[in-house]
Amino acid sequence: MKIAIDGPAGAGKSATAKALAKKLGFIYVDTGALYRGIGLYVIRKGAKASAIEEVVPLLAEIKIEMKHIDGEQHIFLNGEDVSGFIRTESVSAAASDVSAIPAVRDFLFDMQRDIAEKNSVVMDGRDIGTVVLPEAELKIFLTAKPEARAERRVSQLAEKGIEANFEEVLADVIQRDYNDTNRDFRPLKLAEDGILIDNSELNFEETLEKIITLAKERMA
Ligand code: DC
Repeated sequence: MKIAIDGPAGAGKSATAKALAKKLGFIYVDTGALYRGIGLYVIRKGAKASAIEEVVPLLAEIKIEMKHIDGEQHIFLNGEDVSGFIRTESVSAAASDVSAIPAVRDFLFDMQRDIAEKNSVVMDGRDIGTVVLPEAELKIFLTAKPEARAERRVSQLAEKGIEANFEEVLADVIQRDYNDTNRDFRPLKLAEDGILIDNSELNFEETLEKIITLAKERMA
């Protein structure tokens, strides 16, 4: 069985998808980490992530692998476990930029399909229900108002001892939404048979419960 969870940044996709996978005994696949791996490589090479002509030639030098170790997904970039380096703001921005490049999306496509063919998966991303797994039995589009997502991000950062300005975080959320939904090639959008869940007013458990109920209906 395949479950796709798409939606904008900060809607809680990864935490929800991870908990759902654990509950169902499926493999959780965070596809954003793949785009982040490429973003990191591009930064390390000193190239401009939004410049197609600089990024495309680098793809031939990149080997990205995804491995599950003790239930956690790890991303390997040319053999190096880079899981600890891909969550910075600069890698987020680079990942968003490279994800707009068709050659990058094609580069990662087979890998995502391959893992879903071999396992029951909960896969999160932006185009999973629409492009990568159009045959998924359940497609969720998880979203929340930009203000709610920015507030959550500020709290997450505060937990890590990082003080962030709400207005700046909100501007960043809005910019990433714009990039992800307005790129020409395979933008973020609700699949025709996708189910939209706005969790602005729901907490984590309520969101998870809603999706578990839907998944169980599909599995019955
Ligand atoms: O989910 P995330 O924030 O880790 O994703 C990082 C970037 O990668 C995000 O800006 C959008 C892009 N992305 C994508 O275009 N398609 C996916 N399936 C997953 C992520």
